[in-house]
Amino acid sequence: MVKICCIGAGYVGGPTMAVIALKCPKVEVVVVDISVPRITAWNSDTLPIYEPGLDDVVKQCRGKNLFFSTDVEKHVAEADIIFVSVNTPTKTRGLGAGKAADLTYWESAARMIADVSKSDKIVVEKSTVPVKTAEAIEKILTHNSKGINYQILSNPEFLAEGTAIQDLFHPDRVLIGGRETPGGQKAIQALKSVYAEWVPEDRIITTNLWSAELSKLAANAFLAQRISSVNAMSALCEATGADVAEVSHAIGKDSRIGPKFLNASVGFGGSCFQKDILNLVYICECNGLPEVATYWKQVIKVNDYQKTRFVNRVVASMFNTVSGKKIAVLGFAFKKDTGDTRETPAIDVCKGLLGDNARLSIYDPQVNEDQMQRDLTMNKFDWDHPIHLQPMSPTSVKQVSMVWDAYTAAKDAHGICILTEWDEFKTLDFQKIFDNMQKPAFVFDGRNIVDADKLREIGFIVYSIGKPLDPWLKDMPAVA
Ligand code: UDX
Ligand code: UDX
Ligand code: ADP
Repeated sequence: MVKICCIGAGYVGGPTMAVIALKCPKVEVVVVDISVPRITAWNSDTLPIYEPGLDDVVKQCRGKNLFFSTDVEKHVAEADIIFVSVNTPTKTRGLGAGKAADLTYWESAARMIADVSKSDKIVVEKSTVPVKTAEAIEKILTHNSKGINYQILSNPEFLAEGTAIQDLFHPDRVLIGGRETPGGQKAIQALKSVYAEWVPEDRIITTNLWSAELSKLAANAFLAQRISSVNAMSALCEATGADVAEVSHAIGKDSRIGPKFLNASVGFGGSCFQKDILNLVYICECNGLPEVATYWKQVIKVNDYQKTRFVNRVVASMFNTVSGKKIAVLGFAFKKDTGDTRETPAIDVCKGLLGDNARLSIYDPQVNEDQMQRDLTMNKFDWDHPIHLQPMSPTSVKQVSMVWDAYTAAKDAHGICILTEWDEFKTLDFQKIFDNMQKPAFVFDGRNIVDADKLREIGFIVYSIGKPLDPWLKDMPAVA
């Protein structure tokens, strides 16, 4: 029986290993983590992450060929294939601070593997890491090898949160990079045979190590760039009277462009896009490619601009001040169907509104109050981000309340900001909401999910990203 151990029971490691266990009943999969609460949660009825379909997969395999444990060293020692899926945040201090990936967790995992291994291992990079990390890991392992053979593979994960299980069941592709030596090729084949249990052969791509590592950063950079491109267009649409949804539809029909990932929004979030682009920027700078670095940096700048623009719209529309006014925030997660708030645009929008002294009442079906408070008080590292500069002051914290439904959030509010595209926001009783709000009542739809015309019939003043402006908004121009 092949034994797989995955170090790191997070958003990537947990779902990926659960699906491998489900699809490969003959493989034993153990997911290990240093965090006791995380492992306890994985072994309970309330999993530590919300992901549609995940509960079901875990229930089918847990205790059979899928295990969660904090006994990291034991399971690493016993495994044939070790996936490393630990976190790689952006460095906050020292060399490369604000851009480079912090590989502390990776390095300590690698040193631990070298310490406890007694048999040959295939070590698989699963977390997104800078190009050439595999080489560094290889050096740590071989310099401490005690005669053991290590093969390093890069097998980046492309799943998106909220659709992780479907993405894992039907991946567009699985990418495996390895050394071009006989040992490297053998390791590639071993990992390939795991995926081949459910992924068609022509979707499993094998490359050299560096191509696999760079492809992951490149894929995320291209995806984020599409969103910044459509968001940049959304600003121009508002200025000219074009409708960004019509523009997206029209350009998406060009098969060279394609229809997906063209939804204008208040900005992209999530743990990957910004981090990976910053990483790419750093790698370009280190390799003497400042023009390339500037090109990719602009994707983040446009994303910051979009969030600032949204806040300015809100404030400008409400007579240039939101001071003391209650504003309902619907949605805090970085996208629907996840409770994840990492880099969510809601953080910057809320901070922006609090900066103008608004009172916020926030509702998200999957994010709890502790998480929101942590996010809003966190002192984010500033890179070139003026809007990340200030943590929230203690007075601001008091101006935020978290509620458990949209109607309570909107009661007596002057305006509503929709920041996550949760399906339930589409079917709210907006007449009821309107009746209980201050007038004039505003809706600022950061995800273009409500029917703006219907809301206008009720009496709302509506702002939708990249759509022809309400006459009211034309009279109250926002300068970003
Ligand atoms: C992303 C990649 O899609 C995935 O392949 C990679 O493995 C990890 O990073 P994720 O961050 O989970 O996945 O979600 P994704 O669906 O890509 O959305 C990222 C952000 O972009 C979200 O804030 C989302 O709301 C936003 N977005 C997405 C838009 O604003 N418009 C779109 O058209 C699509
Ligand atoms: C383009 C658009 O494709 C077309 O829809 C529009 O109506 C007019 O502009 P065209 O300029 O004739 O058409 O040729 P196109 O095939 O788009 O190539 C433009 C340039 O991009 C060429 O120099 C081509 O060599 C280059 N190119 C194209 C690349 O360098 N790489 C590619 O992958 C594709
Ligand atoms: P991702 O979104 O990439 O999956 P997460 O932050 O959700 O990232 O998960 C990473 C997990 O890795 C965390 O649960 C963390 O406790 C775990 N981790 C970090 N370093 C180690 C280590 N040396 N050994 C075991 N687990 C680790």
